[in-house]
Amino acid sequence: MLQSALLLTIIAFILKPERSQTLVCVTPNELKTRIFDSVSRFQGNKIPFNPAMPGWEGSNVEFNVSKMETLQKNIFLTHDSQHILTMKLSGKQIKKIDEGAFIALDCLHELLLDHNNMSKLSRNTFQGLYNLQKLDLSYNRLEYLPDLAFTSLQKLKILNLSRNRIRSVQSLAFENLILLEDLNLEFNQLETVDVDVFRSLRSLKSLMLAWNGLTNIEPEKWSGLETLENLDLAGNGLNHFDPNYNFSFSALKTLNLSGNFLTKLNVEALNKHLPSLGFIDLNDNPWVCTDLESIVHDLNVSKVKFASRNSSTSTVSGIACSEVPIFMSKTNIEDVISSTTKKSEDWSVKNYVEGIVEKKIKESNVGVISSIRYLQSLVIFLFVLIALV
Ligand SMILES: *[C@@H]1O[C@H](CO)[C@@H](O)[C@H](O)[C@H]1NC(C)=O
Ligand SMILES: *[C@@H]1O[C@H](CO)[C@@H](O)[C@H](O)[C@H]1NC(C)=O
Ligand SMILES: *[C@@H]1O[C@H](CO)[C@@H](O)[C@H](O)[C@H]1NC(C)=O
Ligand SMILES: *[C@@H]1O[C@H](CO)[C@@H](O)[C@H](O)[C@H]1NC(C)=O
Ligand SMILES: *[C@@H]1O[C@H](CO)[C@@H](O)[C@H](O)[C@H]1NC(C)=O
Ligand SMILES: *[C@@H]1O[C@H](CO)[C@@H](O)[C@H](O)[C@H]1NC(C)=O
Ligand SMILES: *[C@@H]1O[C@H](CO)[C@@H](O)[C@H](O)[C@H]1NC(C)=O
Repeated sequence: MLQSALLLTIIAFILKPERSQTLVCVTPNELKTRIFDSVSRFQGNKIPFNPAMPGWEGSNVEFNVSKMETLQKNIFLTHDSQHILTMKLSGKQIKKIDEGAFIALDCLHELLLDHNNMSKLSRNTFQGLYNLQKLDLSYNRLEYLPDLAFTSLQKLKILNLSRNRIRSVQSLAFENLILLEDLNLEFNQLETVDVDVFRSLRSLKSLMLAWNGLTNIEPEKWSGLETLENLDLAGNGLNHFDPNYNFSFSALKTLNLSGNFLTKLNVEALNKHLPSLGFIDLNDNPWVCTDLESIVHDLNVSKVKFASRNSSTSTVSGIACSEVPIFMSKTNIEDVISSTTKKSEDWSVKNYVEGIVEKKIKESNVGVISSIRYLQSLVIFLFVLIALV
């Protein structure tokens, strides 16, 4: 394990793209977008993208093309392409990106590839983009993240991988992303996370892992993340969050644990090991009111604020709870979910709801324990989602 990690790190070092030392990326005073009707028009471009050059018409590029299934090697190589600053390739039905597709885009700092049809990334997909700061890969069909997938992107700050079908992340997938601040992995199908997977992320501020199938994670053992301020674990299958450890992310300020299966929380230990925590969301967990009262009391004493919602049923300070533990049958849950999902043909909605329910059913050995509150809020959430689709 360690040996292969070392080997890959060495390979990454050897493969590190040559930096062009002389190129100076110029920021224009004015944002201007050039829209190309076809890739061949773009390739035949004669007008500079460098704002310092006469005849400049813009450094932001978009394509008015409905379909670009494969991005071949060097596809964006054209006159002065090294000075393009942003490129929008959203919703182009892209399925495949060949290695070296983004070569000659040395100054690019934003690349939008959301709403496409990509199922795979390779180690050299983003080769050459060493000034990239924002990469949007949301709404694709990625299933796993290989080792060194983003290794060229040493200036990346924002990475959006939400709404894919990611089930596994290799332990060196995020290697070299030392400036990354914002990592979004919401709405995927992760069930577990390797404890070392975040170890390179020494500038990360926000980690969004909401709406996956996480049941079996140990955030207390994650390495890296020394600068993390915001952790979102909402809508997963967690039945415990153990604060009896020194977390690597002891600077954490906000924590979202809503929509899980928590019935206990040790606030005193939480406060001790996450001393900067100022805000927590504990809604939509199957709390028993008497337990919740003491949790809320301890939060109050520790000066940790918590999210509260107006609710028609019994609450403690705005957090719903039940007087007795709620037991629900598998059939009940399935009825609630199917009445919701039938209304939408969107695969992603069905997929993750079924995934989560299945997970929660499998996980529980006392038949099925679930919170009606949680399911109701899930239903409301789904309606909002469907309305947006
Ligand atoms: C995009 O192309 C279509 C059809 O070719 C055209 O009608 C439309 O005006 C173009 N849009 C822009 C923004 O250039
Ligand atoms: C994406 O790919 C799948 C299977 O390859 C296909 O069924 C689907 O129509 C594609 N969607 C788009 C928007 O191209
Ligand atoms: C992806 O996430 C980033 C930041 O987390 C956000 O700015 C961007 O709008 C998201 N993309 C889409 C398509 O929602
Ligand atoms: C926590 O996550 C849930 C579910 O995604 C969301 O509805 C809620 O607004 C989040 N809480 C906060 C305080 O952002
Ligand atoms: C946690 O950190 C404290 C102070 O740095 C140290 O004394 C203690 O041994 C650590 N505990 C664990 C379980 O690592
Ligand atoms: C929390 O503390 C405030 C005063 O600091 C008090 O007014 C409030 O009733 C307390 N709430 C709970 C639920 O203990
Ligand atoms: C909750 O309800 C009360 C009265 O019904 C209202 O005054 C308050 O603004 C509501 N709060 C939220 C966050 O909706």
